[in-house]
Amino acid sequence: MPPAVALIRLLLSLLFITAISADQNVTVDDTFGDPITGEQFVYKPASGGSIPAWNVGQDCPGCFAQPDPDQTYLHTWHDGTTGIMTPMSASINFEGTALYVYCILVHSAVDSYFTTNTNLSFSIDGEVVGSFLDNSPVPAGSNSTYNYNVLVYSIDNLPHAQHSFTLTNGNLSLALLDKVVYT
Ligand SMILES: *[C@@H]1O[C@H](CO)[C@@H](O)[C@H](O)[C@H]1NC(C)=O
Ligand SMILES: *[C@@H]1O[C@H](CO)[C@@H](O)[C@H](O)[C@H]1NC(C)=O
Ligand SMILES: *[C@@H]1O[C@H](CO)[C@@H](O)[C@H](O)[C@H]1NC(C)=O
Ligand SMILES: *[C@@H]1O[C@H](CO)[C@@H](O)[C@H](O)[C@H]1NC(C)=O
Repeated sequence: MPPAVALIRLLLSLLFITAISADQNVTVDDTFGDPITGEQFVYKPASGGSIPAWNVGQDCPGCFAQPDPDQTYLHTWHDGTTGIMTPMSASINFEGTALYVYCILVHSAVDSYFTTNTNLSFSIDGEVVGSFLDNSPVPAGSNSTYNYNVLVYSIDNLPHAQHSFTLTNGNLSLALLDKVVYT
């Protein structure tokens, strides 16, 4: 191998070691997963299976929620609408000390019941650690409005270890999952 190439390889590996040893945030897209570890979200029930199930939001012309893809992370989101007694979940594993979870919220007078309520609960390593509720519709007569990049859950004092995270979409609720960030 020519010396210049060897040197570049050495510098790149040093850079990589520096990058992974310092505290840094990693953004995990709902669709593309963890760019470092390759971990992917596991969605239950997954689309194509039982109904209701998670939909690939940007690929779902029939979904009630039609947010602007340009305002979402990597133009993707997952869309889960539950019925009664049909919880849905999205899970991912990560190694770190902090986690931030971002969703899109929708408010609409067109259908102000379950398709626009968001009622989520969060567990880490199998224990429920938090919840999020938004059930405020827009005033009657107006169009759907969307809030992007809404931080629905965060925690920053986890022991540095491998963790499993699960978002559960509660009864009669719409979850639009965009991304999570871990440190
Ligand atoms: C990671 O992102 C969160 C949320 O934006 C921020 O509060 C935190 O300071 C970031 N941490 C690092 C190490 O950049
Ligand atoms: C879901 O909501 C319906 C209607 O309010 C209620 O009858 C049912 O018991 C609820 N299920 C759960 C699991 O909370
Ligand atoms: C809803 O949006 C449509 C299309 O942009 C617009 O024509 C209409 O005036 C809006 N209605 C209200 C109540 O804002
Ligand atoms: C949110 O979902 C949970 C779990 O299904 C349920 O117990 C709770 O009543 C719901 N809250 C609202 C306001 O719908």
